[in-house]
Amino acid sequence: MCGIVGYAGKREAAPILLDGLKRLEYRGYDSAGIAVQDGSTHDAKVLRKVGRVAQLEDALQRSMPQGITGISHTRWATHGVPSVGNAHPHADCTAAFHVVHNGIIENYATLREELKGRGHRFSSETDTEVMAHLVEECFRGTLEDAVAEALRRLRGTWAFAVISSRDPGKVVAARNSSPLLLAIGDNEHFVASDASAVLSATKKVVYLEDGEMAVLTYDGFRISDVDDIELRKRLVEIPWTLEEAEKGGHSHFMHKEIWEGPEVVHNALRGRIRTKEGMVKLGGLEEVQERLYRAERLVLTGMGTAFHAALLGEYFLEELAGIPAETEYAAEFRYKKTPVARNSVLLAVSQSGETADTLAALRKAREQGMLALGIVNVVGSTIARETDAGIYNHAGPEIGVASTKAFLSQVVVLLLTSLFLGKQRGMDMGLAKEILEELEKIPEKMRKILRQEDQIKELANHYAAFHDFLFIGRKFSAPVALEGALKLKEISYLHAEGYNAAEMKHGPIAMIDENFPTVAVVPDDMIRDKTLSNMEEIRARQGPILAIATEGDRKVAEVATDTFFVPKTHEMLTPLLTTVPLQLLSYHLGVSKGYDVDKPRNLAKSVTVE
Ligand code: F6R
Repeated sequence: MCGIVGYAGKREAAPILLDGLKRLEYRGYDSAGIAVQDGSTHDAKVLRKVGRVAQLEDALQRSMPQGITGISHTRWATHGVPSVGNAHPHADCTAAFHVVHNGIIENYATLREELKGRGHRFSSETDTEVMAHLVEECFRGTLEDAVAEALRRLRGTWAFAVISSRDPGKVVAARNSSPLLLAIGDNEHFVASDASAVLSATKKVVYLEDGEMAVLTYDGFRISDVDDIELRKRLVEIPWTLEEAEKGGHSHFMHKEIWEGPEVVHNALRGRIRTKEGMVKLGGLEEVQERLYRAERLVLTGMGTAFHAALLGEYFLEELAGIPAETEYAAEFRYKKTPVARNSVLLAVSQSGETADTLAALRKAREQGMLALGIVNVVGSTIARETDAGIYNHAGPEIGVASTKAFLSQVVVLLLTSLFLGKQRGMDMGLAKEILEELEKIPEKMRKILRQEDQIKELANHYAAFHDFLFIGRKFSAPVALEGALKLKEISYLHAEGYNAAEMKHGPIAMIDENFPTVAVVPDDMIRDKTLSNMEEIRARQGPILAIATEGDRKVAEVATDTFFVPKTHEMLTPLLTTVPLQLLSYHLGVSKGYDVDKPRNLAKSVTVE
């Protein structure tokens, strides 16, 4: 995720672009940049800074480029660390074409080699830069034709905005799978990743769809497909206030991020799977393939929500790859005297890539000669830099303090890692294929759950009367129960205990009475009957039960007080579905109690102290 703003109008572009970027900062904030066309020479003045938009603003205040056409970008790194050289806009060899991009160009490595072979010189590590050079090569007189021609050579996802001194006064934009809209003002036109960037100037927008392009000048715009067929599009009036728009119309970032679940799963899979063959391609692990092949033991580590994802990873790795795996709190691993077996691997899971305990565990593992891998969301973070190899989540920035979408993407990446290692060890490729087929269906199944949010809200209103909760589940649902309890604690400050359902009889059942409800995660899997028996035991003690079950499971619904159904899927993928209603449940309970769910008390997004 990155933020894009482009402007063609009659006012000075730089302050307008800067204002738009500030509102898009939630989409990425590791570097920012701007290119404004000089009014007389038409050359672009470019300014790029590492860090937040505020750093760019400081630099602009010292020297504000003059001009009425420009593009700008706030970056969430995917290819190449956050640095000035990797910040957008990117230029071609002649500095006549400037490009900002959100998305991933999947065939960039091949294109880059081809372009180098034809004499192009590259100055960044990004996938985006190939577009600037391609547009330069394709230019025959109009920028829109050059962009259209260049797009035909790309594979992947994009929202682009492009300007050129050889065809000045124009911004050309294009979209494929990454959001982009056109906004219509008075003698001015904008492109932006979302409406919040333009709302201070206009509420009239046109949403671009995949495969569409737009050309905007101060006095008009034209939308077409890449074959230059002009399209008539509906003008939409944005009903939101500025603040609402930043959150995409959601009342909180946490809510927005829960609703991003389907997109996040899609992004974690993109370019990494060949479903028909059951194949997983993880570029980040290729360099260490040999060492992974020899791995005899895997230790997964993390803290909080990331620890819960790691617990699921342990199941996946043992089940799919047959590698002995165990999960340790990073805070414990760093101080334990763990004998290191030969060819041991540590796999650190961290959204921020900055958690102090996880980083310390990683450093200790490396000191002990273990191969250290990371599953990290924030590109260029300390953990990402210090691992031997790793896989990025591509979940986009998570602003809400409680981790929601990152958890879902961690689970997907752990599944992919297990399939990757499984293939090395001769796993049943029929099973790999089956899992990948099901994984591809998960986004749509998640959407089905999200569409039933009203039902969860009602349940939240009902359960808001209670003060203590038990969450139970087994096997793949045990980490989900732990995660459900953690979310409830942190968002609605309610007492919640997460337990493996099998532990019930060994103590927790003593708490159960009519005032102590249980949330039972009981999807249709090989262990469902066992959890159902635990539910019977709770019911026999008058404990209210909210079950999260698979569609059509009448037996669970008979035993439970309330049931929320999720669609059927492969049992290993059930956490991707059962977690979503639990995230929504804690969200609505927190909101109903009037708490700031985006910034729960006493917590911080990144725990960089012990
Ligand atoms: C809970 C939550 C925390 C984090 C934990 C690890 O909602 O957000 O428990 O999961 O602090 O953070 P990362 O993943 O950044 O290492």
